[in-house]
Amino acid sequence: MRTTRRFEGQVVVITGGNRGIGASIVQQFLEEGAKVAILSRRDISAFLIPLQRQSYHVEAIETVITDAQRVKDAVARVIEMWGRIDIVVNNAAAISREPVTAMSLESWHSVIDVNVNAPFYLCHAVIPYLIEQGSGTIVNMSSVAAKVGDLTAAPVYGTSKGAVTTLTRSLARQLAPYKIRVNAVAPHAIVTEMSGQWSEEKRASVIATIPLGRMGEAREVASVVLFLASEEATFITGETINVNGGYLMD
Ligand SMILES: NC(=O)c1ccc[n+]([C@@H]2O[C@H](COP(=O)([O-])OP(=O)(O)OC[C@H]3O[C@@H](n4cnc5c(N)ncnc54)[C@H](O)[C@@H]3O)[C@@H](O)[C@H]2O)c1
Repeated sequence: MRTTRRFEGQVVVITGGNRGIGASIVQQFLEEGAKVAILSRRDISAFLIPLQRQSYHVEAIETVITDAQRVKDAVARVIEMWGRIDIVVNNAAAISREPVTAMSLESWHSVIDVNVNAPFYLCHAVIPYLIEQGSGTIVNMSSVAAKVGDLTAAPVYGTSKGAVTTLTRSLARQLAPYKIRVNAVAPHAIVTEMSGQWSEEKRASVIATIPLGRMGEAREVASVVLFLASEEATFITGETINVNGGYLMD
């Protein structure tokens, strides 16, 4: 349990917050006093109820993050519910493991849709509220694959994360005059369902390339997201922070 309450009364909107890194981000924001709305594609009551029983302010809004109008409606519901939005976390992502030679165009479009279009739709829907409020911050989830290319996935994943990094920088420039900061986190080799699909052999070969000699924990990514969203990071914008155990130092 955290002892700081950096986000007391602030409203967070996050995509894909029911497992993995997203669940850890939700948990940490709640422990630090925030209210959290999770945009989710399905019923996640099993994840929410134990948190609500601890009197945390956490709600799920079922939506389709790849449908711009539905995302707009979901954002309007958060405003209706809690009157403001302070922090947006674009966390949800899809991955494809097909090699380029076997990859279908449907697969390409569906990963681009979830990893690039959906974060843009959410930013597009929320930014007018942030500008009107005169405050707010966005944190996007990129990946080491944006910088070194895909290690284990199809080329569409790294391409999509490269777009996330560039979207982060572009929005950061456009929104700086409004005092709205936009940053990203680029994790690598974090223990979640996404990396759980790796074989033992793959896992061992990945760990061998990490100076800290282990995989990372979801909470170690979440704490960087909270830092970027916090008052401790008020002079940081357009940045993508590596969380990779030293795998890539740039
Ligand atoms: N785990 C890693 O090693 C790693 C490395 C680099 C980047 N990342 C990034 O971190 C973020 C979280 O990854 P994770 O490891 O927790 O993954 P995960 O697969 O455990 O969770 C992904 C989340 O996205 C949601 N999601 C996926 N497709 C969706 C869709 N079409 N609509 C709505 N929600 C959808 C899932 O429901 C889930 O909540 C992702 O952006 C991922 O690309 C993870």
